[in-house]
Amino acid sequence: DRVLVLAGGMSPEHEVSVRSGRRVAEALRRLDIEVQVADVDSGLLGMLRNDPPQVVFPVLHGALGEDGAVREILELSGLPYVGAPPQACRVAFAKPTAKALVAEQGVAVPRGVTLPKSAFHDLGAPALLERIVATLGESLFVKPDQGGSAFGATPVDSAEELSAALVSCFAYGDTALIEERLRGTEIAVSVLDTGDGPVALPPVEIVPDGGVYDYAARYTAGRTEFFCPARLDEETVQAAAEAALTAHRALGLRDLSRTDLVVDDKGTVRFLEVNVAPGMTETSTFPMAVEAADRDFALTCRELAHRAML
Ligand code: DAL
Ligand code: MG
Repeated sequence: DRVLVLAGGMSPEHEVSVRSGRRVAEALRRLDIEVQVADVDSGLLGMLRNDPPQVVFPVLHGALGEDGAVREILELSGLPYVGAPPQACRVAFAKPTAKALVAEQGVAVPRGVTLPKSAFHDLGAPALLERIVATLGESLFVKPDQGGSAFGATPVDSAEELSAALVSCFAYGDTALIEERLRGTEIAVSVLDTGDGPVALPPVEIVPDGGVYDYAARYTAGRTEFFCPARLDEETVQAAAEAALTAHRALGLRDLSRTDLVVDDKGTVRFLEVNVAPGMTETSTFPMAVEAADRDFALTCRELAHRAML
């Protein structure tokens, strides 16, 4: 058996993906499974054809990885792979679309608007930004409508900050998602399906030291405190699990996902986004949740690989 772990990729999350891929590969090798780690480039389809692995484990984050593009190539190759099919990835990766579909299933979401780069430049900022602030308030969160690891994402406290936040955001994408900034407890709920249907793993509570879960807080050991299990009552844990399972099912995801949520002081759980290739680094919450569920991470990776081959 040989597993091909795809890691790296061309998105700004390249380095994160390399770290995620290394972790998955090391885990599988501990079980004496033969693993090859490869990046993606124009030779991918040829490599899959000439030296086919038994199964592919894509650990690519961001564009051309989590958006379904590389999985289209895996579909063309006819090889089994871990995770959701391309069309489901595409929908999950488009945050406003994913939000709308999950909201239709009754899960609460933050209010928000999308803003294309062209509109920002054409209309000139002031009038437009005033309208957004009048609708959503001054406490906002700006992020690219696609992508991850908090690239181009900024919390905002005034109309002036909004303009600067949009400039940073448009460095990473052509459309901004501007949302009301949620106050409360940030949690991540991973969903795992190793063959008996999707199961929500224990929520991981995220407390970044500077209050904002930015790139440094995500990937520097010690910058964020994680509570697993989260400091939530049983009812809220259930609601969070339901929200993550609803997102997983509504978007047609498979095998694994991680849904990011905020719980307010009234216990309302709001959906932010879902990740089809959740981070697997030493500071990522998916592996923490696996272990909190009394599962071995390596065995879980192996189960995912096996299930994909069935
Ligand atoms: N986009 C990062 C890798 C995550 O969701 O964990
Ligand atoms: Mg994400």
